Amino acid sequence: MNRLQNKKILLGVTGGIAAYKAAEILRECQTMGAEVRVVMTPAATEFITPLTFQALSGLPVHTQLLDAEEESGMGHINLARWADAVLVAPASADFIARFASGMANDLLTTLLLATEKKVLLAPAMNRAMFDDPNTQKNIKQLESQGVIILGPGEGVQACGDVGQGRMLEPEILAQAVADHFQTGELAGLNVIVNAGPTREAIDPVRYISNHSSGKMGFALAQACVEAGAHVTLVAGPVQLETPSGVERIDVISANEMSAAVMSKASKADIFIASAAVVDYTPVEIAANKIKKNATEMQLILIKTPDILTAVSTQDSSTFCVGFAAETDNLEKYAKAKLERKSLDMIAANWIGRDTGGFNNDYNALSVFWKNGEQEIHSMPKPEVARELVTLIAKRYHEKNTT
Ligand code: PMT
Repeated sequence: MNRLQNKKILLGVTGGIAAYKAAEILRECQTMGAEVRVVMTPAATEFITPLTFQALSGLPVHTQLLDAEEESGMGHINLARWADAVLVAPASADFIARFASGMANDLLTTLLLATEKKVLLAPAMNRAMFDDPNTQKNIKQLESQGVIILGPGEGVQACGDVGQGRMLEPEILAQAVADHFQTGELAGLNVIVNAGPTREAIDPVRYISNHSSGKMGFALAQACVEAGAHVTLVAGPVQLETPSGVERIDVISANEMSAAVMSKASKADIFIASAAVVDYTPVEIAANKIKKNATEMQLILIKTPDILTAVSTQDSSTFCVGFAAETDNLEKYAKAKLERKSLDMIAANWIGRDTGGFNNDYNALSVFWKNGEQEIHSMPKPEVARELVTLIAKRYHEKNTT
């Protein structure tokens, strides 16, 4: 399975003989679907050239903290923001000491101070250096700050010693990075996500639709799979790859989307309605192309089924999350929909602002539920989806334990 599909991994390489194995880590992460960027400390470049990583990743390798070109492109803050997770492998004793003491004296330590994402370290050094109380103290300190320490393993070392200090194998490290995204927050639950627009035919040529790309819903489906759920994704007409592990049902119209969702609803623990369902559909679809002879034409439209309300009123044990897309009065309209549609939660996004919305890679959400709310600030939709799924899981478990 592509366990790192759509994930951005920043691979930090520090100076040690195991640096050559970092090339294999990069390949393993790529095979699992990740986009990988490499940052090397100056000492690492003594063991393996940046060119190797550049050729494998197809991207420039970052080595300098103060590089005029990089600062205007992918500077340290941008790199820290870009990554979904940072893996430092191998992590030398010197690097671990500098990181633990909060130094920012090269690009890698600086961006680690700047990142808010999960950091994983794979120590690799001589066994005596690893056992040294200073190294042990530094590792404990980093662990207490939430850094995940992977290994080291035991065995024969490059220096001839035998003991603990070998870097874990590349495949194991790549799997550990993937494990970090599998939260298990929705383990064993059935989730339906609907996504994208619907298309309401007028005649064989024309239709009514909207600007939804499906990106938000597909990101939510992926985040739910990573949280351990069985996910059915009911997708309107969009051009997106199916996230791995997701059962996808393609539909075109609101009526088809309604039928597909309702066919699965009785078994759903959670329904996330991110689709932009067209609200009105032509009463009749013309059998032939309508000729444009008249200067005016009239269409008679009828309301489409409200899929979300149908699910929320059918069985109140299904945890229902609606979306609200608004150009004004975001909070007021979202809260009204929460009430009117009998929802457990509503995620509201602005339309027409540069924080996200339709057909944008970014989004920002104001999430409301009875007696609570939370802001998810503007960031790439996969990250927004992971935050929202964590919130949904928390509220779902609260609802089912009270
Ligand atoms: O697809 P993207 O380009 O990534 O954009 C994401 C998005 C902006 C489409 C998404 O974040 C979003 O806001 N989706 C809901 C859009 C919408 O239709 O909102 P609404 O306020 O009109 O509807 C309220 C809720 O009722 C929604 O959960 C909607 O799915 C649901 N609904 C609406 C009409 C209908 N007939 N049936 C429904 O279930």
